[in-house]
Amino acid sequence: SETGCLSIIVLGASGDLAKKKTFPALFNLYRQGFLQSNDVHIFGYARTKISDDELRERIRMYLPQEKEIMEQVSNFLQLIKYVSGSYDAPEGFQALDRAISEHEVSKNSTEGTSRRLFYLALPPSVYPPVCKMIKHFSMNKSDLGGWTRIVVEKPFGKDLASAEELSSQIGELFEEPQIYRIDHYLGKEIVQNLLVLRFANRLFLPLWNRDNIANIQIVFREDFGTEGRGGYFDQYGIIRDIIQNHLLQVLCLVAMEKPISLSPEHIRDEKVKVLQSVVPIKDDEVVLGQYEGYKDDPTVPNSSNTPTFATVILRIHNERWEGVPFILKAGKALSSKKAEIRVQFKDVPGDIFRCKKQGRNEIVMRLQPSEAIYMKLTVKQPGLEMSTAQSELDLSYRQRYQGVVIPEAYERLILDTIKGDQQHFVRRDELKAAWEIFTPLLHRIDKGELKSLQYKPNSRGPAEADQLLESAGYVQTHGYIWIPPTL
Ligand code: BG6
Repeated sequence: SETGCLSIIVLGASGDLAKKKTFPALFNLYRQGFLQSNDVHIFGYARTKISDDELRERIRMYLPQEKEIMEQVSNFLQLIKYVSGSYDAPEGFQALDRAISEHEVSKNSTEGTSRRLFYLALPPSVYPPVCKMIKHFSMNKSDLGGWTRIVVEKPFGKDLASAEELSSQIGELFEEPQIYRIDHYLGKEIVQNLLVLRFANRLFLPLWNRDNIANIQIVFREDFGTEGRGGYFDQYGIIRDIIQNHLLQVLCLVAMEKPISLSPEHIRDEKVKVLQSVVPIKDDEVVLGQYEGYKDDPTVPNSSNTPTFATVILRIHNERWEGVPFILKAGKALSSKKAEIRVQFKDVPGDIFRCKKQGRNEIVMRLQPSEAIYMKLTVKQPGLEMSTAQSELDLSYRQRYQGVVIPEAYERLILDTIKGDQQHFVRRDELKAAWEIFTPLLHRIDKGELKSLQYKPNSRGPAEADQLLESAGYVQTHGYIWIPPTL
């Protein structure tokens, strides 16, 4: 049932993820009226022994500071109660259960539902014990009805074997419909637009294949380094941190066949098929980089080969995509910060304008910053002369949707978990297929068989990556640059 008492329990309440992402997302939902009924309660759980108010003050620092919404912030914080306990012993989870039950019962609402959403803002190493404790001591009360759901986030393991082990440990305790594996890229506005763009526009349907598309890039760049997360990052590297999850999820939505319907299982079935059609990655279609200075972080060993940059070409062996390189590229400490999907079309056959050198058609979907979808076209240069120029059809969100606030990814995804919609979450078989693609490559990197090239911070990354792009058939447009329109 989707009404009745709702308890949101944030485990790891004083950690980074909770403070920076989970609670601010909950506040935004609250602000928009989603969590304002009397039947909603939020609980923080962690090991530290602090009071309700101490937790509230810690959270407050990460919420908006504007004077006008101070009252809303305070009201929101009042919803939050704190319970402390360990992650692997019954007492804490029994106390948590009592605290939740108290308001479920005291409300005694006629609907009498017990809905419990456990958000694990925790390191994955404690997922198994925590899930076990929840399962034994903190489940929703079946006589009241409702449900128990758990939200987990990457890293789901380090390779295929460890991910499968984690999946089966959790799978013994919870059914797949109760498990929400977050990949926050699936909550981004432009990513959510992909299915609509592809399948609701006649314009794109006949073009979206190997006959017309030369190559597809999915790019993530950050203009800062690992900044204090070096210890975590060095265990994982850019492929596990960004490419195996965020960029690969985007690839699925760009490349998948049309699902039978919009039901979450139909969509996820198609995503799995794409992943299973990816052929093994070739060494000469990978460029790895590590920015100079990365190892200055005292938590990073001097011998680290961990990539902070990678370009990897994936090839999909099916009728639609045979021969089209999918170039996944991600890097930290680069010269710019953006994420985008760039679909480059082939040259016009039998061109009479000799305009090839000016550039090819491209559809670019800019995830961030400045959300936009634009198409690069060749047009007549306005004026008396007959000459051609590159221009664009531009759907820039800030300009087109003035006054519309684009929701944060986490906000949207938490709301989905409350509604029970798993469309934008990663299914277990999807996760497995994703690890199957990258595990052989990751093992070779871990063994030092593939080396990370040094690159200067604040650069484009290793020059070898641009060469790889070129050899994959990407033709860069010179003398044209799209600039997000200002209002
Ligand atoms: C996280 C990665 O999953 O995504 C971080 O662990 C990265 O390294 C972040 O900075 C990027 O997310 P966004 O939403 O800022 O693009």
